[in-house]
Amino acid sequence: MASSTETRTALVVGAGSGIGRATALELAQSGVRVVVADLNAEAAATVAGEHENVVALGESFNATVPDDCDRMVAAAVAEAGHLDSVVSTVGWTAITKFLDETPDYWRRIVDVNLMSAIYLSAAAARAMKERGGTVVLTSSEAGTVGTSGEAVYSAAKAGVIGLVKSLAREWARYGIRVNAVAPGITSTPLLVEQGITGGDDAQGDSGAVLQSILRGVPLRRLGEPAEIATAIAFLAGDGASYITGQTLCVGGGLTMGS
Ligand SMILES: NC(=O)c1ccc[n+]([C@@H]2O[C@H](COP(=O)([O-])OP(=O)(O)OC[C@H]3O[C@@H](n4cnc5c(N)ncnc54)[C@H](O)[C@@H]3O)[C@@H](O)[C@H]2O)c1
Repeated sequence: MASSTETRTALVVGAGSGIGRATALELAQSGVRVVVADLNAEAAATVAGEHENVVALGESFNATVPDDCDRMVAAAVAEAGHLDSVVSTVGWTAITKFLDETPDYWRRIVDVNLMSAIYLSAAAARAMKERGGTVVLTSSEAGTVGTSGEAVYSAAKAGVIGLVKSLAREWARYGIRVNAVAPGITSTPLLVEQGITGGDDAQGDSGAVLQSILRGVPLRRLGEPAEIATAIAFLAGDGASYITGQTLCVGGGLTMGS
């Protein structure tokens, strides 16, 4: 980790939108030098323009490709000098019926939501094992309780929970802490893409779906990306120095563990 006089650095992957964007800005606001990467290079560059502590890598990186993950981390180290934290908020889902889906779709969902986390974790640990650091991945409350319409996504996100538990045990010897956040229903462009928010007609389908979802949330509202970002920043930083292998649910009480 950075010494007390050294600037902390972080790579945030999936930073072009939603929770990743909010995380990059939250870390930057707290004085961390942040390198951002995304499949959508233009979106990452836009986020870099929002804060002086954020810099974009300037090309598109696909976190489902192992070589891209290695190149991303190497480029971030070259840019920042060293890496204290690697955060992944990469993910994608749609609401569909399991029996209508295809093997190609299942493979895509597992690649984006689980394999990307595996490849990025490996690349991160290779870069951080000499001096320690933190990895924060993104699961979902769907990965803890399941969701009708998101069976394989839920399985992939449950995989992220198992991954952080195992890597936390394996990499404690390197001083690398590995944790995840499990967002609940959060107001991001992904929800608009799913048709849950953003409908013109509040009484229409998307409004009805949203209201029924919110009935299951004790706090009775959607989460904001910044509310997930503060949890990620906490897990990435020294305030969580005795926390590893955990998945922190940030979902307004939607799920509650033991
Ligand atoms: N929004 C929610 O309600 C919610 C709930 C639970 C979990 N999550 C999880 O939170 C994370 C962030 O979701 P969000 O709502 O901010 O979504 P979002 O769509 O707003 O942002 C996701 C970002 O990831 C990038 N990305 C996608 N595939 C990529 C790839 N292969 N390589 C590199 N970048 C890639 C996208 O370009 C986008 O910028 C995801 O892992 C998602 O599954 C979201």
